[in-house]
Amino acid sequence: MNPNTVILVQESWKKVAPIAPQAAALFYQNLFTADPSLKVLFKGDMVEQGKKLMQMIGAAVSKLEDLETLVPILQSLAVRHVAYGVKDSHYQTVGGALLKTLEQGLGTEFTPEVKEAWTTVYNLMAEVMISASAAQA
Ligand code: HEM
Repeated sequence: MNPNTVILVQESWKKVAPIAPQAAALFYQNLFTADPSLKVLFKGDMVEQGKKLMQMIGAAVSKLEDLETLVPILQSLAVRHVAYGVKDSHYQTVGGALLKTLEQGLGTEFTPEVKEAWTTVYNLMAEVMISASAAQA
């Protein structure tokens, strides 16, 4: 991956990490506004779920230069997501909600370059997860 993409994503994530609980809440708000039918898939405590999501994004962001480690983690995450009832098309909705959340959290620091870098990184993660889901089905 382009080193500049990695730096833009890692540096912008550092600014979101201190407001992780609020960012997680905003993310679910954005997600359920985009597609209210996704609500039924989430059966656990949403605060806990939000924590796990933010930790996982943080872990993925820190491993962008170590794809050999990251890819198998995403593949097993994807297999669990098939069991949660997640479909391929949901990845696009989640990506949209994530970008919107970053925009809300970062404000003017969510520059077009930062947006592009996150789009690249999210698309890569989603592609790995969708391929692993297909292998599982
Ligand atoms: C890059 C993409 C994604 C990441 C990093 C991610 C991360 C996570 C993590 C860390 C968990 C905690 C449980 C576990 O580790 O198995 C989780 C659970 C879950 N995720 Fe995701 N996820 C992603 C995409 C999606 C998508 C596209 C959907 C579709 C709506 C989704 C829906 C869910 C649901 C329903 C659960 C279980 C919630 C529950 O048990 O209540 N995720 N996700």
